[in-house]
Amino acid sequence: MSKIAPSAPADPIPAEDLTRQYAQIRAEIHAAIDRVLPSGKYTLGPVLEEFEHQFAAYCGTTSAIGISSGTAALQLALAGMGVGPGDEVITQANTYVATAFAVSYLGATPVFVDVDAKYGNLDVGALEARITPRTRVILPVHLYGQPVDMDPLRKVADRHGLKVLEDASHAHGAVYKGRRTGSLGDAAAFSFYPSKVLGAYGDAGSIVTSDPGLEHRIRVLRYMGQEVKHTHLVIGYQERLDPLQAAVLGVKLRHLDTWIEQRRAIARRYGELLKGLPLRIPAEAPDCRHVYYLYTIHAERRDELATFLAEQGIGSQLIYRTPVPLQPCYEHLGYKPGDFPVAERLAGELLNLPMFPELRLDEVERVAAAVRAFYAGARR
Ligand SMILES: Cc1ncc(COP(=O)(O)O)c(C=O)c1O
Repeated sequence: MSKIAPSAPADPIPAEDLTRQYAQIRAEIHAAIDRVLPSGKYTLGPVLEEFEHQFAAYCGTTSAIGISSGTAALQLALAGMGVGPGDEVITQANTYVATAFAVSYLGATPVFVDVDAKYGNLDVGALEARITPRTRVILPVHLYGQPVDMDPLRKVADRHGLKVLEDASHAHGAVYKGRRTGSLGDAAAFSFYPSKVLGAYGDAGSIVTSDPGLEHRIRVLRYMGQEVKHTHLVIGYQERLDPLQAAVLGVKLRHLDTWIEQRRAIARRYGELLKGLPLRIPAEAPDCRHVYYLYTIHAERRDELATFLAEQGIGSQLIYRTPVPLQPCYEHLGYKPGDFPVAERLAGELLNLPMFPELRLDEVERVAAAVRAFYAGARR
């Protein structure tokens, strides 16, 4: 328990709240669902195809392939790129575990690199040293909504003849040098997990690409290895995006840029209000549009701060506490504490403050005031 006296009780502020958005778009969502339910077409079909066209156009790619989740999207994209047993895929140490699991599902090995201290994204300078003759793909993650510095990464990939798969699960609508994430690699995988910047009402995902050969291989893999029904060319998967979720996503895509602007306004306000405290706010790289999927601060005395906020009725989230290569499931890869100094330090400091488009500015002010009160008390 913190020694600081709690302020007067007020309405709790959740770390995330999906109900406020649903209340705003309820009529549109129900109209879209009502197009699917009477059709009798509950897998594949026109509603899914329509969303695929819209999402590809949004990302600036020629195609999108709706997949059942972000994890499956990563797996199928890697499979479509030919990744298999004995291959290596390079990714970053601080990500959601699904990024690495998708590699492991295919019998390949994730190879981890540390991240840069300013943005927490893959350290492109450390990349080349990890490339071996078995490396097939580089898998950067646009962490928390901040695009990875893709131009130098692409140069390294091209020098070594490697494919690039973006894990864009945090970064729908983010922009790098005038181009949206999803269009920056050979392909990208998106999660539409409900709380994401673009989220479905259940598990959902997509792959986007402008490579027609890769698109074709992924479509075949997505539905039991078939080009034509009942002829199974390869051992495929059952990982289609449901048209019901596609209908929901089609509605939400129309609002996405407004919601991103709301996230950015919240981030700006936090930035103004949290100045001068012993914490680091998220940085936006030059020529980039950060979409603030998460508002992740790196704070001194992080655990105590989280407890103090909880006492004030303010939700916060503590994710990615242990870098993926140091998780028990990857013990066999032989990494040890100290191998990823930046990712390990950041993991000990990070805390997500409430962030969702419908968070009100008076709530942002209350959160910031509570953070200030914590450090004012802590300094006494
Ligand atoms: C960076 C990252 N990659 C992949 C995934 C996996 O997506 P899903 O939960 O839709 O399978 C997530 C989702 O949480 C994620 O945050």
